[in-house]
Amino acid sequence: MTARINPSILSADFANMQAELGRIAAADFVHVDVMDNHFVPNLTFGQQMVERVQATSPVPLDVHLMIDDPDRWAPGYAEIGAASVTFHLEAAGEPIALARHLREIGARAGVAIKPGTDVDPLLDYLDEFDQILVMTVEPGFGGQSFIPGTMHKLQQLRKKADKAGSAVWLQVDGGIQPGTIEQAAEAGADTFVAGSAVFGQENVEKAIGDLRALAQAHVHGRPGAGMDRAVSASR
Ligand code: DX5
Ligand code: ZN
Repeated sequence: MTARINPSILSADFANMQAELGRIAAADFVHVDVMDNHFVPNLTFGQQMVERVQATSPVPLDVHLMIDDPDRWAPGYAEIGAASVTFHLEAAGEPIALARHLREIGARAGVAIKPGTDVDPLLDYLDEFDQILVMTVEPGFGGQSFIPGTMHKLQQLRKKADKAGSAVWLQVDGGIQPGTIEQAAEAGADTFVAGSAVFGQENVEKAIGDLRALAQAHVHGRPGAGMDRAVSASR
């Protein structure tokens, strides 16, 4: 299993977006936080801006929609070519139908849950999604502290995904940095969003490489981890 590092442009300099995007060519995806001031108490940008990011970014887009009524708005982001579109379960009217629609358009379909949202309703539907995002902070702002109490949800998802042979990616977002990324990787995440821990650094390429190496060293499916799994499964 490879650890993916997706820098969040929420922590980038919005006035120099082209240059900021140029700094993250070593990343796997660029994480684009769309906020509507209703689903979360913050406002970023919409489809027009994301379309420009899409045209400029050296890596594919991982769009995170923190908006009301994603059933209406999410398909537009897939239509402009975003590789991955993630909407919030709490905001979606028909999450499975929406995920299917996103896939039909050609995007990877993702669903996100806030720290207080139970993971159980998703466990029987892993194959309907390409990515499940377990928020590790309350969505809305960069630079917040990682909430360790969210890790049990990743463990449940990882266990179920491994058992079912599912290829779903398990993503974490919020407070990911050296010191927390290891816990998330051990709990089962394979895709890591980092805003301040990437764009806040002088050497962005090194920051991405360091995070990836840390995650890789702790990733649940690393060589030798099978034994850990077998031991924990027999408990
Ligand atoms: C928060 C956003 C995150 C944010 C993460 O609601 O979804 O993507 O940019 O920022 P850091 O990594 O600084 O916590
Ligand atoms: Zn995000």
